[in-house]
Amino acid sequence: MPELSTVDLKGKRVFLRCDLNVPIKDGVIKDDGRIKASLPTIQLLLSKGASVVIAAHLGRPKNGPAAEFSLAPIAKRIGELLKQEVKFSQEITGNAVAEMVSSLKSGEILLLENIRFSSFETSKDDVERENFAKELASYADFYVGDGFGAVHRKHASVFDLPKLLPHAAGSLIGAEVKVLKTLTEKPERPYGVVLGGAKISDKLAVIENLLSKVDVLAIGGGMVFTFLKAQGKEIGTSLVENEMLDIVKELIEKAKENGVLLLLPTDIIVAPSFSPDAVPTLVSVDQIPVDQMGLDIGPNSAEKFASEIVKCKTVFWNGPMGVFEFPNFASGTKTVGQALTQVKGISVVGGGDSAAAVRALGFQDSQFGYISTGGGASLEYLEGKKLPGLIALDLG
Ligand code: 3PG
Repeated sequence: MPELSTVDLKGKRVFLRCDLNVPIKDGVIKDDGRIKASLPTIQLLLSKGASVVIAAHLGRPKNGPAAEFSLAPIAKRIGELLKQEVKFSQEITGNAVAEMVSSLKSGEILLLENIRFSSFETSKDDVERENFAKELASYADFYVGDGFGAVHRKHASVFDLPKLLPHAAGSLIGAEVKVLKTLTEKPERPYGVVLGGAKISDKLAVIENLLSKVDVLAIGGGMVFTFLKAQGKEIGTSLVENEMLDIVKELIEKAKENGVLLLLPTDIIVAPSFSPDAVPTLVSVDQIPVDQMGLDIGPNSAEKFASEIVKCKTVFWNGPMGVFEFPNFASGTKTVGQALTQVKGISVVGGGDSAAAVRALGFQDSQFGYISTGGGASLEYLEGKKLPGLIALDLG
Protein backbone atom coordinates (compact mmCIF):
# COMPACT_ATOMS: atom_id res chain seq x y z
CA MET A 1 0.00 0.00 0.00
CA PRO A 2 1.44 3.40 -0.93
CA GLU A 3 1.96 6.24 1.55
CA LEU A 4 -0.91 8.66 1.01
CA SER A 5 1.49 11.61 0.94
CA THR A 6 3.22 10.17 -2.13
CA VAL A 7 0.10 9.44 -4.21
CA ASP A 8 -0.77 11.77 -7.09
CA LEU A 9 -4.46 12.58 -6.67
CA LYS A 10 -4.72 15.70 -8.82
CA GLY A 11 -8.12 15.76 -10.48
CA LYS A 12 -8.99 12.41 -8.88
CA ARG A 13 -12.12 11.59 -6.92
CA VAL A 14 -11.35 10.07 -3.53
CA PHE A 15 -13.73 8.05 -1.38
CA LEU A 16 -12.78 8.78 2.24
CA ARG A 17 -14.13 6.65 5.10
CA CYS A 18 -14.04 8.61 8.35
CA ASP A 19 -15.31 7.93 11.85
CA LEU A 20 -17.56 10.90 12.54
CA ASN A 21 -19.55 9.11 15.23
CA VAL A 22 -19.81 12.00 17.70
CA PRO A 23 -22.26 12.54 20.55
CA ILE A 24 -25.23 14.59 19.28
CA LYS A 25 -28.21 15.68 21.35
CA ASP A 26 -31.21 17.39 19.74
CA GLY A 27 -29.14 18.12 16.66
CA VAL A 28 -26.32 19.70 18.70
CA ILE A 29 -22.83 18.16 18.58
CA LYS A 30 -21.62 17.65 22.17
CA ASP A 31 -18.00 16.81 21.36
CA ASP A 32 -16.44 17.33 17.95
CA GLY A 33 -13.15 15.55 18.72
CA ARG A 34 -13.59 12.89 16.05
CA ILE A 35 -14.51 15.54 13.46
CA LYS A 36 -11.38 17.56 14.26
CA ALA A 37 -9.27 14.40 14.19
CA SER A 38 -10.52 13.72 10.64
CA LEU A 39 -9.60 17.14 9.24
CA PRO A 40 -5.87 16.66 8.48
CA THR A 41 -6.56 13.88 5.97
CA ILE A 42 -9.42 15.81 4.36
CA GLN A 43 -7.15 18.84 4.05
CA LEU A 44 -4.31 16.75 2.64
CA LEU A 45 -6.61 15.33 -0.05
CA LEU A 46 -7.93 18.77 -0.96
CA SER A 47 -4.41 20.18 -1.12
CA LYS A 48 -3.51 17.42 -3.56
CA GLY A 49 -6.23 18.63 -5.91
CA ALA A 50 -8.66 15.77 -5.27
CA SER A 51 -12.40 16.00 -4.80
CA VAL A 52 -13.52 14.11 -1.72
CA VAL A 53 -16.60 11.97 -1.11
CA ILE A 54 -16.81 11.26 2.62
CA ALA A 55 -18.73 8.37 4.13
CA ALA A 56 -19.25 7.80 7.84
CA HIS A 57 -21.71 6.34 10.32
CA LEU A 58 -23.51 7.81 13.30
CA GLY A 59 -24.88 5.53 16.00
CA ARG A 60 -26.47 2.22 15.19
CA PRO A 61 -29.66 2.90 13.21
CA LYS A 62 -31.61 -0.33 12.89
CA ASN A 63 -34.45 0.49 10.51
CA GLY A 64 -33.08 2.70 7.77
CA PRO A 65 -33.06 6.50 7.78
CA ALA A 66 -33.97 8.30 11.01
CA ALA A 67 -33.52 12.02 11.69
CA GLU A 68 -31.72 11.46 15.01
CA PHE A 69 -28.93 9.61 13.17
CA SER A 70 -28.52 12.12 10.34
CA LEU A 71 -25.05 13.38 9.47
CA ALA A 72 -26.44 16.79 8.43
CA PRO A 73 -25.12 18.56 11.59
CA ILE A 74 -21.73 17.01 10.94
CA ALA A 75 -21.59 18.34 7.36
CA LYS A 76 -22.27 21.78 8.78
CA ARG A 77 -19.54 21.41 11.43
CA ILE A 78 -16.90 20.24 8.92
CA GLY A 79 -17.81 23.25 6.78
CA GLU A 80 -17.38 25.61 9.76
CA LEU A 81 -14.03 24.11 10.72
CA LEU A 82 -12.64 24.08 7.16
CA LYS A 83 -14.32 27.36 6.25
CA GLN A 84 -15.62 25.92 3.03
CA GLU A 85 -18.87 24.52 1.75
CA VAL A 86 -19.52 20.84 2.41
CA LYS A 87 -22.15 19.43 0.07
CA PHE A 88 -24.46 16.91 1.65
CA SER A 89 -26.24 14.02 -0.01
CA GLN A 90 -29.33 12.67 1.72
CA GLU A 91 -28.97 9.48 -0.30
CA ILE A 92 -26.10 7.03 -0.08
CA THR A 93 -26.52 5.33 -3.45
CA GLY A 94 -28.60 5.88 -6.58
CA ASN A 95 -28.83 8.35 -9.43
CA ALA A 96 -29.03 11.48 -7.29
CA VAL A 97 -25.75 10.59 -5.60
CA ALA A 98 -24.10 9.65 -8.88
CA GLU A 99 -25.03 13.08 -10.26
CA MET A 100 -23.76 14.95 -7.20
CA VAL A 101 -20.53 12.97 -7.29
CA SER A 102 -19.91 13.56 -10.98
CA SER A 103 -20.42 17.30 -10.68
CA LEU A 104 -17.90 17.50 -7.82
CA LYS A 105 -14.89 19.65 -8.73
CA SER A 106 -11.33 19.45 -7.55
CA GLY A 107 -11.12 20.80 -3.97
CA GLU A 108 -14.80 20.15 -3.23
CA ILE A 109 -16.25 17.94 -0.51
CA LEU A 110 -19.40 15.85 -0.52
CA LEU A 111 -20.56 14.12 2.66
CA LEU A 112 -22.92 11.19 2.20
CA GLU A 113 -25.75 10.60 4.68
CA ASN A 114 -25.18 7.99 7.43
CA ILE A 115 -23.79 4.96 5.62
CA ARG A 116 -25.59 2.68 8.10
CA PHE A 117 -28.94 3.88 6.74
CA SER A 118 -28.26 1.12 4.21
CA SER A 119 -28.57 -2.30 5.84
CA PHE A 120 -26.00 -3.57 3.31
CA GLU A 121 -23.23 -1.64 5.07
CA THR A 122 -23.35 -3.86 8.16
CA SER A 123 -24.76 -6.99 6.48
CA LYS A 124 -23.35 -10.35 7.60
CA ASP A 125 -23.88 -11.58 4.02
CA ASP A 126 -20.61 -11.12 2.12
CA VAL A 127 -22.31 -10.85 -1.27
CA GLU A 128 -24.73 -8.16 -0.09
CA ARG A 129 -21.87 -6.15 1.34
CA GLU A 130 -19.72 -6.61 -1.76
CA ASN A 131 -22.49 -5.48 -4.11
CA PHE A 132 -23.05 -2.39 -2.00
CA ALA A 133 -19.30 -1.74 -1.97
CA LYS A 134 -19.26 -1.99 -5.79
CA GLU A 135 -21.80 0.80 -6.00
CA LEU A 136 -19.74 2.93 -3.63
CA ALA A 137 -16.61 2.16 -5.63
CA SER A 138 -18.23 3.60 -8.74
CA TYR A 139 -18.07 7.05 -7.12
CA ALA A 140 -14.31 7.23 -6.90
CA ASP A 141 -10.86 6.55 -8.37
CA PHE A 142 -9.14 6.00 -5.05
CA TYR A 143 -10.07 4.94 -1.49
CA VAL A 144 -8.66 6.37 1.71
CA GLY A 145 -9.44 4.65 5.00
CA ASP A 146 -9.22 6.99 7.97
CA GLY A 147 -12.09 5.91 10.25
CA PHE A 148 -9.97 4.31 12.93
CA GLY A 149 -12.92 3.97 15.34
CA ALA A 150 -14.62 1.60 12.89
CA VAL A 151 -11.68 -0.56 11.74
CA HIS A 152 -12.83 -3.43 13.97
CA ARG A 153 -16.05 -3.66 11.94
CA LYS A 154 -16.29 -5.93 8.91
CA HIS A 155 -18.50 -3.43 7.13
CA ALA A 156 -18.78 -2.65 3.42
CA SER A 157 -17.22 0.81 3.49
CA VAL A 158 -14.48 -0.32 5.88
CA PHE A 159 -13.56 -3.79 4.68
CA ASP A 160 -14.98 -4.55 1.20
CA LEU A 161 -14.64 -1.23 -0.57
CA PRO A 162 -10.84 -0.80 -0.23
CA LYS A 163 -10.40 -4.11 -2.05
CA LEU A 164 -12.09 -2.63 -5.12
CA LEU A 165 -10.02 0.53 -5.48
CA PRO A 166 -6.40 1.55 -5.19
CA HIS A 167 -6.16 2.59 -1.57
CA ALA A 168 -4.13 4.11 1.22
CA ALA A 169 -4.52 4.81 4.93
CA GLY A 170 -5.20 8.34 6.10
CA SER A 171 -3.03 10.15 8.62
CA LEU A 172 -5.37 9.48 11.57
CA ILE A 173 -5.20 5.72 11.09
CA GLY A 174 -1.44 6.05 10.64
CA ALA A 175 -1.09 7.91 13.95
CA GLU A 176 -3.42 5.58 15.86
CA VAL A 177 -1.64 2.44 14.70
CA LYS A 178 1.75 3.93 15.53
CA VAL A 179 0.71 4.68 19.13
CA LEU A 180 -1.06 1.37 19.71
CA LYS A 181 1.90 -0.50 18.26
CA THR A 182 4.12 1.15 20.86
CA LEU A 183 1.75 -0.07 23.59
CA THR A 184 1.58 -3.63 22.29
CA GLU A 185 5.15 -4.11 21.12
CA LYS A 186 7.51 -2.16 23.30
CA PRO A 187 5.87 -0.23 26.13
CA GLU A 188 8.28 1.55 28.40
CA ARG A 189 7.86 0.16 31.93
CA PRO A 190 6.20 0.32 34.30
CA TYR A 191 3.16 -0.07 32.03
CA GLY A 192 -0.21 0.69 33.63
CA VAL A 193 -3.72 0.32 32.29
CA VAL A 194 -6.81 1.87 33.83
CA LEU A 195 -10.13 0.41 32.79
CA GLY A 196 -13.58 1.61 33.67
CA GLY A 197 -17.03 1.58 32.20
CA ALA A 198 -20.12 -0.41 32.87
CA LYS A 199 -19.53 -3.93 31.67
CA ILE A 200 -16.78 -6.41 32.35
CA SER A 201 -18.08 -8.61 29.51
CA ASP A 202 -17.08 -5.89 26.99
CA LYS A 203 -13.53 -5.77 28.34
CA LEU A 204 -12.93 -9.36 29.35
CA ALA A 205 -10.74 -10.27 26.38
CA VAL A 206 -8.61 -7.16 26.73
CA ILE A 207 -8.16 -7.73 30.48
CA GLU A 208 -7.12 -11.36 29.88
CA ASN A 209 -4.63 -10.25 27.27
CA LEU A 210 -3.25 -7.38 29.34
CA LEU A 211 -2.61 -9.55 32.39
CA SER A 212 0.44 -10.96 30.66
CA LYS A 213 1.65 -7.54 29.52
CA VAL A 214 1.09 -4.86 32.15
CA ASP A 215 2.66 -4.08 35.52
CA VAL A 216 -0.37 -2.27 36.95
CA LEU A 217 -4.06 -2.76 36.17
CA ALA A 218 -6.52 -0.41 37.90
CA ILE A 219 -10.22 -1.12 37.63
CA GLY A 220 -13.05 1.30 38.32
CA GLY A 221 -16.47 2.13 36.90
CA GLY A 222 -19.57 -0.04 37.01
CA MET A 223 -17.65 -3.19 36.22
CA VAL A 224 -15.73 -3.01 39.48
CA PHE A 225 -18.72 -4.31 41.44
CA THR A 226 -18.49 -7.68 39.75
CA PHE A 227 -14.88 -7.84 41.01
CA LEU A 228 -15.97 -6.83 44.52
CA LYS A 229 -18.78 -9.39 44.57
CA ALA A 230 -16.35 -12.04 43.34
CA GLN A 231 -14.28 -11.22 46.45
CA GLY A 232 -17.35 -11.95 48.57
CA LYS A 233 -18.29 -8.34 49.30
CA GLU A 234 -21.79 -6.89 49.64
CA ILE A 235 -22.39 -4.57 46.68
CA GLY A 236 -25.95 -3.41 47.40
CA THR A 237 -27.88 -2.51 44.25
CA SER A 238 -24.74 -1.72 42.20
CA LEU A 239 -24.31 -2.96 38.64
CA VAL A 240 -23.22 -6.57 38.51
CA GLU A 241 -22.79 -9.33 35.95
CA ASN A 242 -23.37 -12.47 37.99
CA GLU A 243 -22.52 -14.76 35.09
CA MET A 244 -19.01 -13.29 35.07
CA LEU A 245 -18.20 -13.97 38.74
CA ASP A 246 -16.21 -17.16 38.18
CA ILE A 247 -14.27 -15.66 35.30
CA VAL A 248 -13.46 -12.60 37.40
CA LYS A 249 -12.15 -14.84 40.21
CA GLU A 250 -9.82 -16.43 37.65
CA LEU A 251 -8.68 -13.00 36.47
CA ILE A 252 -7.84 -12.01 40.03
CA GLU A 253 -5.81 -15.24 40.41
CA LYS A 254 -4.05 -14.71 37.08
CA ALA A 255 -3.07 -11.17 38.12
CA LYS A 256 -1.48 -12.62 41.29
CA GLU A 257 0.35 -15.36 39.36
CA ASN A 258 1.70 -12.84 36.85
CA GLY A 259 2.80 -10.36 39.50
CA VAL A 260 0.45 -7.68 38.17
CA LEU A 261 -0.52 -5.03 40.70
CA LEU A 262 -4.31 -5.24 40.41
CA LEU A 263 -5.85 -2.10 41.90
CA LEU A 264 -9.46 -2.28 43.00
CA PRO A 265 -11.15 0.51 44.98
CA THR A 266 -11.10 0.47 48.76
CA ASP A 267 -13.79 3.11 49.15
CA ILE A 268 -16.89 3.85 47.13
CA ILE A 269 -19.34 6.72 46.74
CA VAL A 270 -22.81 5.25 46.98
CA ALA A 271 -26.29 6.69 46.49
CA PRO A 272 -29.86 5.41 46.82
CA SER A 273 -30.58 5.81 43.09
CA PHE A 274 -29.04 6.50 39.68
CA SER A 275 -29.77 10.19 39.51
CA PRO A 276 -27.84 13.46 39.42
CA ASP A 277 -29.61 14.60 42.61
CA ALA A 278 -29.09 11.37 44.55
CA VAL A 279 -27.40 12.05 47.90
CA PRO A 280 -23.81 10.74 47.79
CA THR A 281 -22.31 8.91 50.78
CA LEU A 282 -18.73 7.73 51.08
CA VAL A 283 -18.35 4.21 52.45
CA SER A 284 -15.63 1.62 52.78
CA VAL A 285 -15.75 -1.08 50.16
CA ASP A 286 -16.68 -3.50 52.97
CA GLN A 287 -19.70 -1.46 54.02
CA ILE A 288 -21.80 -0.87 50.94
CA PRO A 289 -25.41 -0.69 52.22
CA VAL A 290 -27.76 -3.30 50.73
CA ASP A 291 -30.13 -0.62 49.43
CA GLN A 292 -27.54 1.68 47.81
CA MET A 293 -25.54 1.55 44.61
CA GLY A 294 -21.95 2.53 43.94
CA LEU A 295 -21.66 5.42 41.48
CA ASP A 296 -18.00 6.40 41.80
CA ILE A 297 -14.76 5.22 43.32
CA GLY A 298 -13.96 7.01 46.59
CA PRO A 299 -11.20 9.61 47.12
CA ASN A 300 -8.76 7.19 48.82
CA SER A 301 -9.05 4.77 45.91
CA ALA A 302 -8.71 7.56 43.35
CA GLU A 303 -5.57 8.83 45.13
CA LYS A 304 -4.09 5.33 45.24
CA PHE A 305 -4.85 4.81 41.52
CA ALA A 306 -3.32 8.23 40.77
CA SER A 307 -0.15 7.57 42.79
CA GLU A 308 0.48 4.32 40.89
CA ILE A 309 -0.39 5.87 37.50
CA VAL A 310 2.12 8.69 37.86
CA LYS A 311 4.89 6.14 38.53
CA CYS A 312 4.23 4.50 35.15
CA LYS A 313 6.10 5.36 31.95
CA THR A 314 3.28 4.08 29.74
CA VAL A 315 -0.41 4.40 30.63
CA PHE A 316 -3.53 3.48 28.69
CA TRP A 317 -6.92 4.53 30.02
CA ASN A 318 -10.32 3.45 28.77
CA GLY A 319 -13.60 4.05 30.55
CA PRO A 320 -14.72 6.41 33.30
CA MET A 321 -14.32 5.54 37.01
CA GLY A 322 -17.85 6.59 37.88
CA VAL A 323 -20.93 8.35 36.54
CA PHE A 324 -18.90 11.41 35.53
CA GLU A 325 -21.94 12.97 33.81
CA PHE A 326 -23.35 13.65 37.33
CA PRO A 327 -21.08 16.19 39.12
CA ASN A 328 -21.47 14.39 42.49
CA PHE A 329 -19.96 11.25 40.99
CA ALA A 330 -17.27 12.70 38.73
CA SER A 331 -14.35 13.07 41.12
CA GLY A 332 -12.86 9.58 40.64
CA THR A 333 -12.69 10.10 36.87
CA LYS A 334 -11.26 13.60 37.36
CA THR A 335 -8.50 12.40 39.70
CA VAL A 336 -7.49 9.63 37.32
CA GLY A 337 -7.56 12.06 34.37
CA GLN A 338 -5.38 14.47 36.34
CA ALA A 339 -2.89 11.69 37.07
CA LEU A 340 -2.66 10.82 33.39
CA THR A 341 -1.70 14.40 32.61
CA GLN A 342 1.28 14.02 34.97
CA VAL A 343 2.71 10.84 33.48
CA LYS A 344 6.36 11.25 32.50
CA GLY A 345 6.14 9.03 29.48
CA ILE A 346 3.27 8.21 27.18
CA SER A 347 -0.34 8.52 28.31
CA VAL A 348 -3.07 7.35 25.98
CA VAL A 349 -6.77 8.00 26.46
CA GLY A 350 -8.61 5.39 24.44
CA GLY A 351 -12.13 5.65 23.18
CA GLY A 352 -14.56 8.18 21.85
CA ASP A 353 -16.47 8.15 25.15
CA SER A 354 -13.38 8.43 27.32
CA ALA A 355 -12.10 11.26 25.15
CA ALA A 356 -15.45 13.04 25.42
CA ALA A 357 -15.34 12.46 29.20
CA VAL A 358 -11.96 14.10 29.70
CA ARG A 359 -13.00 17.08 27.59
CA ALA A 360 -16.32 17.39 29.45
CA LEU A 361 -14.34 17.44 32.72
CA GLY A 362 -12.32 20.39 31.49
CA PHE A 363 -9.07 18.75 30.35
CA GLN A 364 -7.39 19.79 27.11
CA ASP A 365 -6.33 17.22 24.50
CA SER A 366 -2.80 18.61 24.71
CA GLN A 367 -2.49 17.50 28.37
CA PHE A 368 -2.38 13.86 27.26
CA GLY A 369 0.18 12.04 25.18
CA TYR A 370 -2.41 10.81 22.73
CA ILE A 371 -6.20 10.70 22.58
CA SER A 372 -7.32 7.74 20.53
CA THR A 373 -10.54 8.10 18.55
CA GLY A 374 -11.12 4.36 18.75
CA GLY A 375 -13.13 2.84 21.59
CA GLY A 376 -13.82 -0.77 20.66
CA ALA A 377 -11.19 -0.51 17.92
CA SER A 378 -8.35 0.41 20.28
CA LEU A 379 -9.40 -2.25 22.81
CA GLU A 380 -9.53 -4.92 20.11
CA TYR A 381 -6.13 -3.79 18.85
CA LEU A 382 -4.73 -4.17 22.39
CA GLU A 383 -6.38 -7.60 22.60
CA GLY A 384 -4.15 -8.55 19.69
CA LYS A 385 -7.04 -9.12 17.28
CA LYS A 386 -6.68 -8.69 13.53
CA LEU A 387 -8.95 -5.82 12.56
CA PRO A 388 -10.82 -5.99 9.22
CA GLY A 389 -10.34 -2.32 8.36
CA LEU A 390 -6.59 -2.56 8.93
CA ILE A 391 -6.28 -5.84 7.03
CA ALA A 392 -8.05 -4.17 4.08
CA LEU A 393 -5.48 -1.36 4.16
CA ASP A 394 -2.62 -3.87 4.36
CA LEU A 395 -1.89 -2.72 7.93
CA GLY A 396 -3.30 -5.74 9.78
C1 3PG B 1 -17.27 3.96 18.07
O1 3PG B 1 -18.05 4.82 18.47
O2 3PG B 1 -16.53 3.29 18.84
C2 3PG B 1 -17.10 3.77 16.60
O3 3PG B 1 -17.64 4.82 15.88
C3 3PG B 1 -17.71 2.47 16.18
O4 3PG B 1 -19.08 2.47 16.39
P1 3PG B 1 -19.87 1.09 16.55
O5 3PG B 1 -19.43 0.48 17.87
O6 3PG B 1 -21.33 1.46 16.52
O7 3PG B 1 -19.48 0.21 15.39
